Amino acid sequence: MIYVSRKEHFNAAHKLYNPNWSREKNIEIFGPCANENWHGHNYDLIVTVSGDPDPETGFVVDLKKLSVLIKKEVLEELDHQNLNLDVPFMAGKMASTEVLAQEIWNILEPKISSITSHGSLFCIKLYETPRNYVEYYGPGV
Ligand code: NI
Repeated sequence: MIYVSRKEHFNAAHKLYNPNWSREKNIEIFGPCANENWHGHNYDLIVTVSGDPDPETGFVVDLKKLSVLIKKEVLEELDHQNLNLDVPFMAGKMASTEVLAQEIWNILEPKISSITSHGSLFCIKLYETPRNYVEYYGPGV
């Protein structure tokens, strides 16, 4: 089994704010991330596809095709947007890195088969800062 990854980048604004809580509780739990007037991050997104290489190409997945797919399906929705206000698939959800990684998985997982017959989505790794990142391997994993 080979693991093939493509790294992409986007910028987005958000705040961490649970509307069911008081302002005080939001500030207590989320600190400056609850700032009402938003803040931004430079996100790095690493999408990993696993599989055995196609004997004719030697590829698990063509990384150019993976890059185009990520840009079309994910980055066009997220880049330079406000995660809380502008992104339909994040509507009504907490704009945390964990939730965002799960939603990116849900978008990409069914579409990987359109670019490769030898690989499937293995992991979404999402860096919110150079030191803080999450990994998602799919539901139940
Ligand atoms: Ni933040």
